[in-house]
Amino acid sequence: MPIVAPSLLSANYLNLEADCKMLNESEADWYHLDVMDGRFVPNITFGPMVIDFLRKASNKVFDVHLMIEEPEKYTEAFKKAGADNLTVHIEACTHLHRNIQQIKSLGMKAGVAVNPHTPVSLLKDIIADIDLVCLMSVNPGFGGQSFIPQTLVKIRELRNMIDEKGLNVDIEIDGGVTLENAKSIVDAGATVLVAGNTVFRAPNPTEMISLLKKI
Ligand code: DX5
Ligand code: ZN
Repeated sequence: MPIVAPSLLSANYLNLEADCKMLNESEADWYHLDVMDGRFVPNITFGPMVIDFLRKASNKVFDVHLMIEEPEKYTEAFKKAGADNLTVHIEACTHLHRNIQQIKSLGMKAGVAVNPHTPVSLLKDIIADIDLVCLMSVNPGFGGQSFIPQTLVKIRELRNMIDEKGLNVDIEIDGGVTLENAKSIVDAGATVLVAGNTVFRAPNPTEMISLLKKI
């Protein structure tokens, strides 16, 4: 059964409380929270302040995906805001190992995200130090894009790397996940499904979350 992590990028920001209530009462495992800085990605979303408010509305795991440059400057702020998992982009970190240690020393789970063009082989020497790999299956920045099929090849390669080393690292797929492609994603070896539009644009989001859980 996959971990299902609805992305609040597609939520209704005029009434976030209603979406939180829906998620809390659903089978959703994690809140996936997309932080964008307008530099690493061509879009801007929210930061620790909004996450701090959301924290008061939910006890679920907060999976924070930082699409920002210099994430090390904000690690502590996201911890204080209530992040459980903190994911940084490999493309944004010159000192990735140091950033991972910083995240873990603050008691959060550490994730590394990779863009569609970045080979998973680059994770070889960091994989044993992290809890999660977020494979971007779209170019980061926006919700509602189409799944890039090459991601399936990357999932299998990463699954082999993790299994060969006997590690317990989650493989999270982020972008363009639908009810139609979710099974092939899980079969390839992914353990976490992020879903923005698929959940929040569904006629019945709660039911959609249940269907994704049953994959
Ligand atoms: C994109 C974000 C995703 C986004 C996915 O940069 O990282 O988490 O919300 O949205 P969907 O599921 O609509 O592709
Ligand atoms: Zn994301």
